Parts: sequence; C-alpha cells; structure tokens
Amino acid sequence: MRIILCDSYKEISDRAAELICAQITLKPDCVLGLATGSSPIGMYDRLAEMNLDFSGVTTFNLDEYYPIKRDNDQSYYYFMQKHLYSRVNLRPENIHIPSGECTDVERECREYEEKIQASGGIDLQVLGIGMNGHIGFNEPDDSLNTKTHLTDLTESTITANSRFFDSEDDVPKQAITMGISTILSAKKIILLASGKEKRHAISALLRDEINTEIPATMLKVHPDVVLICDREAYGDK
Ligand code: F6R
Repeated sequence: MRIILCDSYKEISDRAAELICAQITLKPDCVLGLATGSSPIGMYDRLAEMNLDFSGVTTFNLDEYYPIKRDNDQSYYYFMQKHLYSRVNLRPENIHIPSGECTDVERECREYEEKIQASGGIDLQVLGIGMNGHIGFNEPDDSLNTKTHLTDLTESTITANSRFFDSEDDVPKQAITMGISTILSAKKIILLASGKEKRHAISALLRDEINTEIPATMLKVHPDVVLICDREAYGDK
C-alpha cells in the first residue's frame, strides 16, 4: 500500500482528483468506482473545476441506502447528482448507482454485478473508510459478503450518518453495497481518510492482520492501493 500523507483536507482532495485526472487522460473510456460521504466532496469540487472530459467515462457507485427514493436529499443518488453528475459531462446512461427504490433487491444486486462485469471492470475505485473500518457498507462482522448485496447498517454507522438526517430514526437501517470482492476486483484503489475520527480505523488497517472486524484490512491483499490521508487520520506512527 502506498501512502500519500497530506497536511490538509484540500491537499487530500487535490491529490485524489489528480489521480482521477491521470486515469481519465490515460484511458478516456475508463470505468470509475465512486464513493459518497464527506471524504470525497473536496475531490468532486476539484474535478468539477478541472474541466475534464467525462463523456467516455462510466461510473459505478459503491452503495445506496435501502429503501430510499432517488429524490430524497439524503439519497446517495441525490448526493452524486449535486456533487458530480450535474457538474461534468458524464452521459446519463454511463452513470450507475444501486437503486434504493427497487422492489426485487436480489435481482438489483445481481444485475449491478453483471453491469460492472459487462463494462470491463472498474479501473479506479475511490473509497472512504468508516470509523469502524467499513468500506462501502461492508460492516464489521464474523464473515463478509463478496458480491453486491443488501446489508444491515451497524448502530455506529447509523449514529455516524445521523448527522445528515433530521434524527437518528430517519436514517435507513439497510443499504445495498458492492461486496468485498467487487471492490477488490478494481484495478486500482484510492482510499481517502481525513480527521482524527478515522485514526483508529487507519491504524488497524496499517497494523493489524486481515480480519473481518475491520473490513478495510481486506485491502491488504490488493496490489495497487493508495491511501491518501492527513496527519490527524494517520496519527503519530
Ligand atoms: C460511502 C461509503 C462509506 C463512506 C464511509 C466514510 O459511499 O461507501 O463507506 O466512505 O462511511 O464516510 P465519510 O467520508 O462521510 O466519513
């Protein structure tokens, strides 16, 4: 794992946007795996400023709450629309995000995997990391699911994400998420982490052996992961 240690959130965002820019320049019809949450917002802002040509790019988002309507301002679709889709020239047919409105979840998950395969696979996957070490919504558990699936959110994730909702009761209790092997199939992965709340998860990622209680430790088996983090998240190692 390579580590880019940054002095600020802005620097994390700029470094991450540069890697995406390089990916699009090298392969204008690349497939990007994208994340939501606070970590990538600055990166999306920077990408929007760069005036890159996204017309050949395909995107797959990691996850979506379930159930949730697309037009709910807390849906991940809404988030992506606001922070990226509406600001670059991505073609609507090339945008993919699990549907929080579907009625047949199993089918939705199966078809999502098939679409990723059919696209040729993800060239560059962007990840954030939960305080409990989750990636996507692969939460700590005795065993981890490999493919796209419906999952229960843990109490700690519901509490952490309640900052975006009127109350904790409004946070959906489930989500559709790419699985661990979906994520690990990406050719390159960049993981963004900022702030001291992430220090425990980053320490575990860098020090611990692979274990399902810190799902991010699974990234250790991937040959091309870049961790872009600030000193607060990195700690004084
Ligand atoms: C979001 C996602 C989550 C977040 C993680 C960190 O699509 O998959 O794993 O990356 O919860 O969230 P933030 O960046 O808000 O701290």
